[in-house]
Amino acid sequence: MIFDTHAHYDAAQYDQDREELLTGLADAGVGRVVNISNGWKDMLATLDLIRQYPWMYGTVGIHPCEIDDFDEDRFLLLKDYCHADKIVAVGEIGLDYYWVKEPEQRQRQRDWFARQLALAREADLPVVIHSRDAAQETYDMMKREHAGTTGGVIHCYSGSAEMAREYVKLGYYLGIGGVVTFKNAKTLKKVVTEIPLSHLVLETDAPYLSPVPYRGKRNSSAYIRYVAEEVARLKGISREEVEEATWENGMKLYRM
Ligand code: NI
Repeated sequence: MIFDTHAHYDAAQYDQDREELLTGLADAGVGRVVNISNGWKDMLATLDLIRQYPWMYGTVGIHPCEIDDFDEDRFLLLKDYCHADKIVAVGEIGLDYYWVKEPEQRQRQRDWFARQLALAREADLPVVIHSRDAAQETYDMMKREHAGTTGGVIHCYSGSAEMAREYVKLGYYLGIGGVVTFKNAKTLKKVVTEIPLSHLVLETDAPYLSPVPYRGKRNSSAYIRYVAEEVARLKGISREEVEEATWENGMKLYRM
């Protein structure tokens, strides 16, 4: 069975057919999905979704690009939501220097990232990490402020194989999604080849990052089989073995 460890089914891209798509996932072999919060509104939508679908779990947290919408009052509510039913992690949190260039704004990202890493430790929840154009700084902060304490996943891992090994040493999982099916994703293919399967989990980041042959289109957990197929090809094992192992890894990551 397939475990999609990272999706955003509260996104507007599903407003027309959300229920139909989600109820159809079981037929595609998808047994579990974790819906990841990005912003403030997503947290409320995630809490709503996980009440509706027994096989769906959720996370709460503020994405580095959403911190303008965040303040101390909301941070207190976020703390409360960590203890809500079926909330399994704090995320996605991290650093995104691709969209943000101003030093002050980057400092604000680091501040909220550090506070949410501390919150995860306090609430004893694993973390879901977003990192874009900030690989070294994300790793340094993870090592300094979290150091594997409550575990977690580096979502949509895009760094080097060397850094992947360092994350694995700290006990983190690497999230592998549609990008691994792209022809030009040489570094990621190398990462998947070299890192033991026991430290990989599958994810969509739906509605984004669809695998080939759906690249550019809206993503769905049903397409994760193409990701599993590519991981299997790189590891020289069967797709079923990949799905089984990553299911177990997902259960361990989110402590289910
Ligand atoms: Ni995401």
